[in-house]
Amino acid sequence: MSNMLGARRRLCLLQVVLLLFAAVLLVADACLTSEYRRKLEATVEMPLDADVFRVPEGYNAPQQVHITLGDQEGTSMIVSWVTANELGSSTVMYSEASPDPEKMELCVEGTHTRYDYFNYTSGFIHHCNLTNLKYSTKYYYAMGFGHTVRSFCFTTPPMPGPDVPFKFGIIGDLGQTFDSNTTLSHYEANGGDAVLYVGDLSYADNHPLHDNTRWDTWARFVERSAAHQPWVWTAGNHELDLAPELGELAPFKPFAHRYPTPRRFAPAATPFWYSVRIASAHVVVLASYSAYGKYTPQWEWLRAELARVDRAATPWLIVLVHSPWYSSNAYHYMEGETMRVQFERWLVAAKADLVVAGHVHAYERSHRVSNVAYDIINGRCTPVRNRDAPVYVTVGDGGNIEGIADNFTQPQPGYSAFREDSFGHATLEIRNRTHAYYAWHRNQDGDNVVADGVWLTNRYWMPTDDDTS
Ligand SMILES: [Fe+2]
Repeated sequence: MSNMLGARRRLCLLQVVLLLFAAVLLVADACLTSEYRRKLEATVEMPLDADVFRVPEGYNAPQQVHITLGDQEGTSMIVSWVTANELGSSTVMYSEASPDPEKMELCVEGTHTRYDYFNYTSGFIHHCNLTNLKYSTKYYYAMGFGHTVRSFCFTTPPMPGPDVPFKFGIIGDLGQTFDSNTTLSHYEANGGDAVLYVGDLSYADNHPLHDNTRWDTWARFVERSAAHQPWVWTAGNHELDLAPELGELAPFKPFAHRYPTPRRFAPAATPFWYSVRIASAHVVVLASYSAYGKYTPQWEWLRAELARVDRAATPWLIVLVHSPWYSSNAYHYMEGETMRVQFERWLVAAKADLVVAGHVHAYERSHRVSNVAYDIINGRCTPVRNRDAPVYVTVGDGGNIEGIADNFTQPQPGYSAFREDSFGHATLEIRNRTHAYYAWHRNQDGDNVVADGVWLTNRYWMPTDDDTS
């Protein structure tokens, strides 16, 4: 009898253990399609006379001011701007001490360019690389000497190191609609130190003849942020501006003239893949619309670049790319697949922490998964949980004129942790070498509300199971 009772107890215990195990599995497989439904309205571009597009007062006043990192270490800053009436000066004066342009003691002479696009001729586009800057230092700078002078300020990033806190804003596919303005305002209220921009800027190509005046309005719109903190640029498909019917055969013509990157500032170099090191992060920027097949320059570069990443110096490995590798939205479905097949195994081997993409106009976050086991005869072609793999996020939800991508595939695949068809932006707060807080902010919420947040642990220093939510 006592043996039977003992057996029953053991059976009950076994059942409890099995139930607990099943519960753990359910939690571990948690995935969520948000029930929040944005009111579906057409996105509308802000009118040309909107205050955000205002041309600054004064003859030949510098406009469209924006800055980006000028080297891989964060000791240079490229200042870019446009003068519309005449060439004017390409000089930038700058100073740690004085916001008064008359008293700025440092001076750099920049270069200028301009371009024709069908029936449009750009203004004079100036680029000036400020070098040998100190880390974590506020600089005042000014341009427009000889006519109308405008001044701004920025703070350089801290010296790269393993435990240097830093807060990134993450924005994609912004455009210039009323929703775009909400996204940018929302980001400004959340207060990041630099923006990781994952491509598709102005959507000028959605207008007849690729109306390039929309490149000008977009740059005036984002100046309020991009003149004061570096935006790290990724090229998207709306940067291609390839239009044989207009006789425009050179891809990326407006973008390449207007938005230099650390790599492209070198004379005659035009690649859109590069890297920067900021605080505790090594940020790799990939180009979805430049060749990435085996032996191409991008392929060769990425292979060498991943070998250069030093996780002891910069623990966080972040990759930016326009077209997502993991997206369960029907829009642009599997467009990033060929690049995933080409590069995913390298990122898993490198233990990349986070891959950020845009392109799909909705929000999605993945669990840590990989799909790298397939070898053409083994049939193993399903994403599986992998602690060495990055988290993939898609933030093409900046609010551009094309509207929301409100067509997620059903059912939600197991690798997808959270998805929602709303506009918004994300932030990544790196705290130290082991922990970073990632958050997605929905435009309809208050500034500080986190619609989807997760603590990420570093894949090199603390590869714990951080993807259960
Ligand atoms: Fe796109």
